[in-house]
Amino acid sequence: MHALLYRSRARPGLLASDLNAIIETAEARNHEIGITGILLYGQLAVVPGAPGEFVQWIEGDRESVEALYADIATDERHFDPEVLARGPIGELRDGVRAAGPSGRLFPTWSMALVRLSELPATLPGFLAFARDWEGDALPAMA
Ligand SMILES: Cc1cc2nc3c(=O)[nH]c(=O)nc-3n(C[C@H](O)[C@H](O)[C@H](O)COP(=O)(O)O)c2cc1C
Repeated sequence: MHALLYRSRARPGLLASDLNAIIETAEARNHEIGITGILLYGQLAVVPGAPGEFVQWIEGDRESVEALYADIATDERHFDPEVLARGPIGELRDGVRAAGPSGRLFPTWSMALVRLSELPATLPGFLAFARDWEGDALPAMA
């Protein structure tokens, strides 16, 4: 099982409806290609009109993850994508979460959108975020 974590800057003026469109596409397509993960959206500065940022974790087989990221990276709804980590999940997870049978961090989420005021924009920060969410009831995949 392979994963990729990246951050990017949302296109200025991106609307809530744009976020909904992104997540709807992502859920449907990820389900088809066996990808799961989480998409975090937030702003790094509490300034009216400050552009939003994304942090996304995608997991699945290596070819699917890398092909999907190649698509996502050229999407004009965000820019300046920066890969924070990529590789076998067992190495990236660093023991943060007990291995489930699937070896995934988000086995039941084809893609979940979570809005945060402050994004965990490093691998250790993201893994701490994922660990903290472990005990929460995760919504079932649609
Ligand atoms: C921040 C962000 C995250 C995205 N995440 C996904 C995703 O997880 N899965 C997905 O299929 N598309 C995702 N997309 C949309 C893809 O970039 C692309 O528009 C979509 O896969 C449809 O591709 P197509 O127009 O070639 O069919 C995301 C887009 C953005 C801006």
